[in-house]
Amino acid sequence: MLSAERRVRAAVLVSGGGTNLQALLDARGSVIQHAEIALVVSNNPKAYALKRAEAAGVPALILSARELGGAAAFEDALERTLREHGIELIVLAGFMTILSPDFTGRWERRILNVHPALLPAFCGKGFYGLRVHEAALARGVKLSGATVHYVNEIPDGGEILLQKAVEVLPDDTPETLQARIMEQAEWKLLPQAVELVAEKLLGQK
Ligand code: GAR
Repeated sequence: MLSAERRVRAAVLVSGGGTNLQALLDARGSVIQHAEIALVVSNNPKAYALKRAEAAGVPALILSARELGGAAAFEDALERTLREHGIELIVLAGFMTILSPDFTGRWERRILNVHPALLPAFCGKGFYGLRVHEAALARGVKLSGATVHYVNEIPDGGEILLQKAVEVLPDDTPETLQARIMEQAEWKLLPQAVELVAEKLLGQK
């Protein structure tokens, strides 16, 4: 029974539309059995993801580096917030800030990220959102996809957990490619990875 089982408390960090957050919320009780979406944190006050959290009844808050006075203050506040909420797993779901090695070191194998390409292609600093798909189209790849990986001190460099390839079509724009990769890969892989890691953390795998 879901309610009787111990579930890993996960926080989802977002910056934008939050379709990956929505996929996680929708997977509760089906693909996701061993994790609870306990908190949503946005670094962007205007992120539509905040509305998705509210609609799902998940506590959500905004932490803005600009308002807090910089990246270090942001990470301090984030750390404090996560500890206060008893968070055990962090999911970066369209979170457009690179976390410092200090931060990632404290949460080793407890941070996941979804990247909209087949790592190690089109990754690292500057490769986020539509830019990833622009780069893939400019290079002329015939396959792209998504990757869910652990986050370490190297941007997009942590151990790969799951990947799924998606076809690039001849008349794709960055927007059409992004949409296909989200639908065929990201929204499926991220819930699966959260469940996989939650089970690992609970010592069941
Ligand atoms: C997603 O495609 C995600 O993979 C990407 O941004 C989009 C966020 O969409 N993330 C990165 O590029 C991180 N490097 P969403 O807000 O609708 O989930």
